Amino acid sequence: MYTQAFDIVVAGETSPVADDGDVQTAFLARIARDEKIEPQDAMPEAYRKTLIRQISQHAHSEVVGMLPEGGWITRAPSLKRKEILLAKVQDEGGHGLYLYSAAETLGVTRESLVEALHAGKAKYSSIFNYPTETWADIGTIGWLVDGAAIMNQVPLCRCSYGPYARAMIRICKEESFHQRQGFDIVRSLCEGTPAQKAMAQESINRWWWPTLMMFGPHDSDSTHTGEATDWGIKRISNDALRQKFVDVTVPQAAFLGLTLPDSAIMWNAERGHYDFGKIDWDEFWRVVKGDGPCNAARVSDRVAAFDEGRWVREAAAAHAAKSALSKASLKVAA
Ligand SMILES: [Fe+2]
Ligand SMILES: [Fe+2]
Repeated sequence: MYTQAFDIVVAGETSPVADDGDVQTAFLARIARDEKIEPQDAMPEAYRKTLIRQISQHAHSEVVGMLPEGGWITRAPSLKRKEILLAKVQDEGGHGLYLYSAAETLGVTRESLVEALHAGKAKYSSIFNYPTETWADIGTIGWLVDGAAIMNQVPLCRCSYGPYARAMIRICKEESFHQRQGFDIVRSLCEGTPAQKAMAQESINRWWWPTLMMFGPHDSDSTHTGEATDWGIKRISNDALRQKFVDVTVPQAAFLGLTLPDSAIMWNAERGHYDFGKIDWDEFWRVVKGDGPCNAARVSDRVAAFDEGRWVREAAAAHAAKSALSKASLKVAA
């Protein structure tokens, strides 16, 4: 899942500084020619650091994003829904792996990134710090959260850093399936009994505002927008993407017969967009800084999953070492 909101700088972190003129000039000329920057290419240190922060926050979001839905795999209402959800959650794990690999091309180790997540120092998308209370939440997450992710991530397929852009092309194809399966769950509930439709409405009421927050702070409060745009990382601003998401989602909610929990939503013919109400940014920052409903549980669940998987990693490493040894001895014998 997710992104722009990923490049969140927190207190104590310094903003990367631009470095020497020659590297900058040649680099900006390449960006202007729309060339992809590859791992072996010269790049300003500030660009490298910004990408490490954004790609690692993105990778963490994919992996932490498996948790709210993973708990519903055993409770899915049918075998078909279980299979679909299982595939979706596995996709998110795969997205995390592509992105950790993309971050590693910038000279960081995956271990250091995972350690920062487990120590509570790294950020991930705030949306995953909200609980999944009902089956309808699984539909809402696919429809709204993965839907917002697509809005955020499609422009990243044209990001200036080659490994990130290429990872995003595959990820976006899978996100599209995630959004459709979520919409299909919500549609089934809306076409079901009054209690099922009420479950869908209650879920939308809880998830609507946190989903709008996923696009990150207003452009006027987004400190790195200018640099990220100049460097070809960010193609469309937070507010423009958020507006696009609202414009696409309002008719979908109407089709389903659901009410979005914002009385200010109204078509503005002059702007050619839907107007919508004010986001509670205090809530956004509270959750980003660690005080959301599930922050502590998400990190401790990740740590537990990592510890429980230790034997698998050790066995794989032992197998790889053994294979390398027997290949080497075969070479000597030959
Ligand atoms: Fe997804
Ligand atoms: Fe994903």
